[in-house]
Amino acid sequence: MNHRRAPSDGHVFYRKLQRTPPLIVRGEGVYLFDENGKRYLDACGGAMVANVGHGVREIGDAIGAQAATLAYVNGTAFTNLPAEALADALIAKAPPGITKAYFLSSGSEAVEAALKLARQYHVERGELSRRTIIARTPGYHGNTLLALSASARPHYREVYQPWLLDVRMIDAPYPYRAAAQGESAPAMSGEALEAAILECGANNVAAFIAEPIGGSSTGASVPPPQHYARIREICDRYGVLFIADEVLTGAGRTGKFFSLEHFRDRAGSPIAPDIITMGKGLNGGYVALSALLASKKIFDTIAAGKYGGLVHAQTYSHHAVACAAGLATLSYLEKHRLVERAAQMGSVLHERLRSLQNEGAGASIVGDVRGKGMLAGIEFVADRETKAPFPRSLKMVERLVEAGLQRGLVLWPNTGHADGINGDLVMIAPSFTISEEQIEELVTLLRTSLEDVARDLPAAAGKVAAH
Ligand SMILES: Cc1ncc(COP(=O)(O)O)c(C=O)c1O
Repeated sequence: MNHRRAPSDGHVFYRKLQRTPPLIVRGEGVYLFDENGKRYLDACGGAMVANVGHGVREIGDAIGAQAATLAYVNGTAFTNLPAEALADALIAKAPPGITKAYFLSSGSEAVEAALKLARQYHVERGELSRRTIIARTPGYHGNTLLALSASARPHYREVYQPWLLDVRMIDAPYPYRAAAQGESAPAMSGEALEAAILECGANNVAAFIAEPIGGSSTGASVPPPQHYARIREICDRYGVLFIADEVLTGAGRTGKFFSLEHFRDRAGSPIAPDIITMGKGLNGGYVALSALLASKKIFDTIAAGKYGGLVHAQTYSHHAVACAAGLATLSYLEKHRLVERAAQMGSVLHERLRSLQNEGAGASIVGDVRGKGMLAGIEFVADRETKAPFPRSLKMVERLVEAGLQRGLVLWPNTGHADGINGDLVMIAPSFTISEEQIEELVTLLRTSLEDVARDLPAAAGKVAAH
């Protein structure tokens, strides 16, 4: 193997070209190990993916056994045992009315297919004018062009803007930065959705897509308890399909199997979206696998329609090995009661993370700690009183991620939280298997990394000001 000193060495086209990423050779539980034996505590499960931990032998064995028995058959011609079993397992956990599962490889693909399914549902019913998608800003649903069109992430969109579709954006619920109106703000109450539907003309709206609890875009923001009861009512009133994007939050990340389970309707019953998308934790990171789950109403319409199925086909849909990995991940979650553990240890995690606001030399820049279960967002500010962000030019969160890596801590950064450009945040989303001692280690590493950054910031700010 070549010696990779710079990204231009070797033949891998890395995702970021400012530096050569460490070469990771092994994972075990919450830890990763690089080629030199250095240990990293993976505080964000990669991209909020690793829910059962790294290096779980029995999942590896299940994948190997399936690959050796039957790796692949085409999903149009055949079905396979893991796809059937995984669909049964997911539907058993899904809200009432959700009866079918369609498997793909990535979250973006699941979102892409979910939006197409929504459009096809309306077309099959003769409502051809229903083409508008409503999504939220900030929000993220993926990087393929339709999913990106529904994503309010300027950095990803800029280059491809001329190719993106027009998606109607409404403000996402973002309690930390909601206007003074608090829970009655239109974004928080759901009123923003109704206003957008009326503005677009209800007969033109196909679907509303949302992350029930925010991912990295809103840094794990949690809407008020009544939010989704109102969203469901509004969607029903205007014949708009509600797509819950649980790619990041699904499979237990927030301490319930679906994050929408934290919300109830006015009668106290679960809220059922029309379509759910999943990815990440569905496969624990072991093999690329995503899913869309659809309601009986939608399935029956497509089944009775003129196209004979969802007009969408991909070579690797319903992949036997990927579904076996999903099945093994779900079995592991269940066997070790890890979703319940995510809720319990999540409380410990949040309590310890909140201590960062009071302890250590970096405490004054910790603006907010929020989230649910094993999903937390920590937003940093230059001034806690005014919530003023650091100027982007300081690259505060990039410094923190680098300081963390030096100390052996892996963090997920995000930017733009105050105004689309400025505003720094890290996501904390470890494996649900993390122990109390490991939470302590995580918080200590984070506190000391934050101190490293806080020490350097005044000097860096001086340099920026002098320019
Ligand atoms: C809520 C949400 N939807 C969709 C996606 C896209 O998933 P993928 O990166 O697997 O394509 C992501 C990825 O971060 C996500 O967080």
